[in-house]
Formats: sequence, C-alpha cells, structure tokens
Amino acid sequence: MIIYNKFKYFKMRYQPISNRFFRSNRENFTKQMNENSFAVFYSNDQCPRNGDQYHPFRQNSDFFYLTGIEQEKSILLLAPACPNKKLQEALFLLKTNEILEIWEGHKYTKEEARSTSGIKDIYWLEDFEASLKEVMSYFDNVYLNSNEYIKFFPDVEAREIRLGNTLQLLYPLHKYHRAAPLLSRQRLIKSQQEIDLIKEACAITNKAFRSVLSFTKPGVWEFEVEAEISYEFTRNRAGGHGYAPIVASGKSACVLHYTENDKVCRAGDLLLMDFGAEYANYTADLSRTIPVSGKFSPRQKELYNAVLMVMKEVKKLYIPGNTINEINEKTNELMEKEMIRLELFSKEEVMEQDKNSPLFKKFFMHGTSHFMGLDVHDVGAKHQPLKSGMILTCEPGIYIPEENTGIRIENDILITDGEPTDLMADFPIEVEDIELLMNR
Ligand code: GLY
Ligand code: MN
Ligand code: MN
Repeated sequence: MIIYNKFKYFKMRYQPISNRFFRSNRENFTKQMNENSFAVFYSNDQCPRNGDQYHPFRQNSDFFYLTGIEQEKSILLLAPACPNKKLQEALFLLKTNEILEIWEGHKYTKEEARSTSGIKDIYWLEDFEASLKEVMSYFDNVYLNSNEYIKFFPDVEAREIRLGNTLQLLYPLHKYHRAAPLLSRQRLIKSQQEIDLIKEACAITNKAFRSVLSFTKPGVWEFEVEAEISYEFTRNRAGGHGYAPIVASGKSACVLHYTENDKVCRAGDLLLMDFGAEYANYTADLSRTIPVSGKFSPRQKELYNAVLMVMKEVKKLYIPGNTINEINEKTNELMEKEMIRLELFSKEEVMEQDKNSPLFKKFFMHGTSHFMGLDVHDVGAKHQPLKSGMILTCEPGIYIPEENTGIRIENDILITDGEPTDLMADFPIEVEDIELLMNR
C-alpha cells in the first residue's frame, strides 16, 4: 500500500505503476516516428449520459499507455527533436480550482502528474495553444491518433478525431500521419509489467468465479450472480468490469451479446458467464458454463466435454508463427467433427453443404480468439503471426437453442518462445471440479 503524500501518486484503487513503464512506452513510440515530426494525443471524452450526468470516465487506452494519466481533457505532446527542450515531452492538464475541488474532487497537481507519468514538463491547458503553434513552426509532420478497430462504427465522433480535425483546419499545410499502427505494434507485445497486471486481473476474476460456484443454485436471478461478481471485483481493487458481463442461463446463452442478465436460473439449465475484471485498465476475459443445479446432465456433460476437448487441442496452436486465422480454421474443423459425433448433423450432410454457409456455423458462429490487454478486444489483426509476449483468448463454444443450451469456455493465453502459458490454468474447468465446488 502506498502512502499518498509521500509518493505524490494520484490514483489509489490499484497499486501504482512505475512511471518507467510509461516512459519506455513513449520512447518506443517516438523511435518509430519519422524525422521532422511530432505527435499529439488527446484523452477520452467524458461521455454524456442524461441530465447533468456523465458515464464513468475511462481513459483512452493509448493515452493511458503513454502517460498513466486518468483525467479528462488532458493532452500529450511528443516532440523529441524540438529545439525548445521544454516542449520535447509535455503534458497539458485541466487546471483545478477551489470550486472544482469541492464539486468534483481532486484533480492532478503538476507534481502528481509528473510522478505518475514521468514527464517533467507539465502545463495547464491554457498554455496549449501557444505551445502547439511553436512546435508546429519547427516541424512539417504531425502524428495524430484514432481508434482503427476494424469492426467498430460508433455514431459519436471521438475527441481525438474532433480535435485532430480542428488542428488540420488550423494548420492545413502540415502533413498528417497515423499514430495507430505504431502504437498497435507496441501494444501487441506485452511487457512483463503488463503481463503482471493482466495476471492480477485474472486472479481477481478467478476469485469471482469461485464465489459464483458456491453461490449459484436454482432460483437465483442472473443479476444476483452478476452482483456476486461485481462485489468480488470491487473489493479486490478492480476498476470494474473490462466489458459488460454476460450471465445467461438456459436459452439466453445462445444470444452471444446477452447482457440483460434479468432471468431466473432454473434447475436443469446451464448458466453461461462471460466476465473479466479490469485492473489498472488491463482486463481479463473469462467464460465458464456451469449447471445451475450443481450437476451436469449426461447430455450437458457430453456437450461440455466436446467444447473442452476442442479447447485443449486448439491451445497447442498458441505458438509463435501461427495466426488467429489458422487457429479459427483448426477450431472449426474440430468443432465440425464433434458436432457430427453429437448428432447435430451427419457426415453426409456436411458433404452436401454449401461451402459458403457450412453447417457448423449454425452452432458455432464466432471466432476462437482475439488479442486482449488494455481493451478486451485489443489491437492486432487476425493475419498477424503470433509472437512471444502477445496475449489472446481461446474460446470455443457450442450454441443449440433447440436444446436450451449455450456453452462457451474461454481462457487467456500468453504466447512464449516455448509452450503457451495459460493465465487461467488454475481456474476450475473440469466437469468434476465444477460439480465438486458447487456442492461443497
Ligand atoms: N467477452 C467478450 C469476448 O469474449 O470476446
Ligand atoms: Mn473473448
Ligand atoms: Mn469473453
């Protein structure tokens, strides 16, 4: 536990991260920049809810990665070749005042921001315009950031896009470049520091899962299970959930993004849960499926073990050089075989199937893996060869609405130069272990 006044750190929920981490992230970013250039990064918006309320603030993942600063309206300037040394690495923050402190609470002091980020030159926002003008006069090229997640189409324009557009209007004769590919390259490979934070997120998630195993019984509501999870997360210093938790009993488990969590868990049904604690902004991503009554039926056990067997096989592919695309293909192949064995369709039907719409897709319609880290679906693409230090999920599943059943099992895997490391190896997963823990 740190002592607030002694170390001048600002955030207290998680153990402070050494600013060496953020310094080295900035250094690795600026090393990739063209000469004759500088970069500007904006923090996330405070997202409006209704009335005078905002949604809880979550820092932009890249901004956090480069600074450790978790405050709205912040700006980072990286100009390592700037002749004015005071602007080579500068952070611009909201200046607090007595009224803001009374209504919203404490904002970073310059000293706290310096200590958190490792950036020497901290300014208030009112200095940004003049500083920007000065830096613009020295360089021809500017790096701006944006969320380039390929399957994400938000209606709301991000702050970095809005402010980036303004900048391009004010300085139309400069050349603008994408910061995202550079950052994505960096964020894909987790440092030891990041691996430790994700391990902590996993450890908290494990506690919550174990608590759910002893809590769940026929008649409990899905939201009561969710409450158990949230309780364990918060009391173990998680910032919250890394994504909206799925607590889906019976048929609801066949809705992949079910988050209503508002049904009663009934005896005889399975309960599919997909949740992950967020610790210091790094997330875990777990899925487990358990029998509400504490015992799998023979058919449920058969289905569950089919998914588990596929998971164990596919995990072996999490080695350098393979890609997510290859992992997906192999999983599909194995799942198809299992589905024939489980009599969901026959071999003959597979031979006659439309290749563009294979039969297995009716019962397993999502990918097996994605990168994870600061975001649950983190930066990185499906064709990229795996490398040591990457962390991905392994999450085969089977969804059969006709049988009132959806099963997904999901662990988080660290790629190493040798065997893959399952970061959730100590989570209950075997039928016997789950049953034992539910009936203690
Ligand atoms: N929790 C989201 C996913 O498993 O991809
Ligand atoms: Mn996942
Ligand atoms: Mn998940």
